[in-house]
Amino acid sequence: MNPLKHVAIIMDGNGRWGIKNKNSRNAGHKAGLKTVEKIIKQTIKNKIKFLTLFAFSTENWKRPKKEINYLFNLLENFLLNRIEELHKQNIKLKILGVKNFSPQLNKLLNYCEKKTLKNSKLQINLALNYGSKSELVGAFKKIKKNKKNISEKNISRNLQTKHMPDPDLLIRTGNTKRLSNFLLWQLAYAEIFFEKKLWPAFTPNDYDRVIREFKTIKRNFGKI
Ligand code: IPE
Ligand code: IPE
Ligand code: MG
Repeated sequence: MNPLKHVAIIMDGNGRWGIKNKNSRNAGHKAGLKTVEKIIKQTIKNKIKFLTLFAFSTENWKRPKKEINYLFNLLENFLLNRIEELHKQNIKLKILGVKNFSPQLNKLLNYCEKKTLKNSKLQINLALNYGSKSELVGAFKKIKKNKKNISEKNISRNLQTKHMPDPDLLIRTGNTKRLSNFLLWQLAYAEIFFEKKLWPAFTPNDYDRVIREFKTIKRNFGKI
């Protein structure tokens, strides 16, 4: 049985689910948030220590402003309503990506990170305005500035995911088989599951099924 410390998820398919079921992409984002809550609970049940959720990519700024505003409002309200509860559950929240949102949202994100910094049951990494290529460029720049040598160790140390194990398992919902600039370095040896279901339709049972299958895979890491 493979140990499972870190699950990463590309939560894709909200817009299509929303159009199909409620004739609105934004309704899909709202429904997707319900799935987030269920999956967080199930992650705790499965005693997994790190959950990284791709919520907004550096490329998602190319979407219509109305959709972007809706998404960030949803996030802001979610954090305002839920941060106390997450904190009580001993959950640590960390943002991956560049925090260049409204001053109000930046402040809230910093507050949530600081408040939950010492929590230890589960770390949730929320990837927001995150792009893996930009993260890597940032790491190389830091290495250069500190006059260190380019090595795998130094690159890992200068990524935003320092101090955590690489994801063992990547799940992408939404019936699309690509990485969309997510954790390109960190996923080098992850087991990857592309799920047909759209994110709002993805259930804790689906999650458990993937985890069960993950646990039985022979992970070689180059060995035989
Ligand atoms: C993923 O769902 C959520 C975000 C990118 C914010 P999409 O909004 O990409 O949904 P589809 O892929 O268009 O259905
Ligand atoms: C990836 O989904 C980003 C998130 C889930 C936040 P996209 O829907 O943006 O990916 P592409 O553009 O279809 O590759
Ligand atoms: Mg999509």
